[in-house]
Amino acid sequence: MAHHGMKPQHGIMAMCEKDNHNEGRFGRLFSGLPALYTKPSELKKLGAQGGPMDGGKARNDSQTIPMGMVFLGQFIDHDITLDTTSRLDKVNDPNAIFNFRTPALDLDCVYGLGPEASNFLFKDGVSLLTGKDGTALASQSQNHRDNDVARTSTGTAIIGDPRNDENRVIAQLQLAFINFHNHVVAHLQAADPSLNHGALYEKANEEVRWHYHWMILNEFLPTMIGAPLVQEIMSEGRQLFTPHKGQIPIEFSAAAYRFGHSLAPQKLKVRKAQTHDFELFGGTLGFGFQPISDDKQIIEWEVLFNIDATPFQTTDKLDTKMPTDLLALPFIPAGSENSLATRNLLRGQSFLLPSGEKASQAAGIDQTIIDKVTAHVKGNTAGIDLSNGTPLWYYILAEAECIGRKDAGGNKPGEGLGPLGGRIVGETLIGLLELDTTSFLSVDRNWIPNLTNNGDFTMKDLLTFS
Ligand code: HEM
Repeated sequence: MAHHGMKPQHGIMAMCEKDNHNEGRFGRLFSGLPALYTKPSELKKLGAQGGPMDGGKARNDSQTIPMGMVFLGQFIDHDITLDTTSRLDKVNDPNAIFNFRTPALDLDCVYGLGPEASNFLFKDGVSLLTGKDGTALASQSQNHRDNDVARTSTGTAIIGDPRNDENRVIAQLQLAFINFHNHVVAHLQAADPSLNHGALYEKANEEVRWHYHWMILNEFLPTMIGAPLVQEIMSEGRQLFTPHKGQIPIEFSAAAYRFGHSLAPQKLKVRKAQTHDFELFGGTLGFGFQPISDDKQIIEWEVLFNIDATPFQTTDKLDTKMPTDLLALPFIPAGSENSLATRNLLRGQSFLLPSGEKASQAAGIDQTIIDKVTAHVKGNTAGIDLSNGTPLWYYILAEAECIGRKDAGGNKPGEGLGPLGGRIVGETLIGLLELDTTSFLSVDRNWIPNLTNNGDFTMKDLLTFS
């Protein structure tokens, strides 16, 4: 199972550069800060199975984060970043790392390059293909193809970003976004049958993106970083992320936005009638990159999001623990580092990231909060030498664990990101929307959703439409 960064390395010359005066697709938020160096042996102890990050096999559920948000988070990541060129064992220069995705929330993972350049994703130049259109693995049953993304006759998904077939849930979410687009096309066509194909596609693409942007601002971000911080960044402006055009801060992609790895479940239910949890990667749900082959793999979103009266699952807590399986990824070639935690830590170090403490100070966070997080880290990592400072990704998880998301009623440890992680994630996603000249924040900041009659739009609506 290939995932981000898993491709063969392209031997890019890694230059030890730390400026951010570039218009590349990756950049830096804290270019003035010194890089943290921690001995790789210590990073490996921190990220190893059996080490302080190993959460075992038991679930430790959050109170408030719907399980589906893990996969929406992964989907959003795939919309904006794809680094197949950096190396774990060398210093990497963000200016020289190629981002294979446009650094914008433009759903290129759904549309590819659009109906002209990515014609193979489309049915009639307007609607997107799905398994229902007869594109499927030869042996797939009708019901299974009706509920799957389009595939080649050998089963490979025909979608805008191949990573969105990496696990069963994200593949089904990809299908939900495709169906949502097709729903919007039908809706617009019914309202104005005179629209030609080009105009219809452009209008549908804009409607879908703007509703998606609305949902990120009003549902995804408040869930992950808290509504007060979203409000603050929207009204007072961004402090850290101020490039001239869209780019991905390396502190976001190599550290803060990897917070999702702590939320990921080891096991979950995907259907109402399911009596016990299935492994995310296992015999029933499959090991990724596989066509639907069992009714049990067809997801009922009510068990993953708050949609109706059905009880929905929540994610694992946002903390310093990860499911043990992610600390020994099954798809990494022998001899390469197979702990996702250690990979994140080494990746962060290879990009010369500052410590969480230094980054927090630069972001103007109270020293009392920083001291509390550092003390918490010390308590969790006995025997591991982190005396130079706490690696940024681990710091952000520790901050989530001991401080947590700030809601109107106060902070909730284990439920969402704390002050530094929240600011990096919030400023980056909001900034990407503000820097995108075709987003509703650029075109018409007062726009409100028009597909529902309550002026709001949530994942529940998207999944109901699709
Ligand atoms: C559900 C199971 C998931 C698995 C198995 C998984 C696995 C991976 C792997 C293997 C990498 C490459 C690590 C490296 O070599 O540096 C990666 C990168 C990454 N992951 Fe995940 N991930 C999952 C979910 C998520 C979620 C929920 C989020 C965020 C909410 C996320 C955010 C990221 C980011 C930002 C990167 C770096 C991407 C890039 O720069 O190209 N992942 N993930």
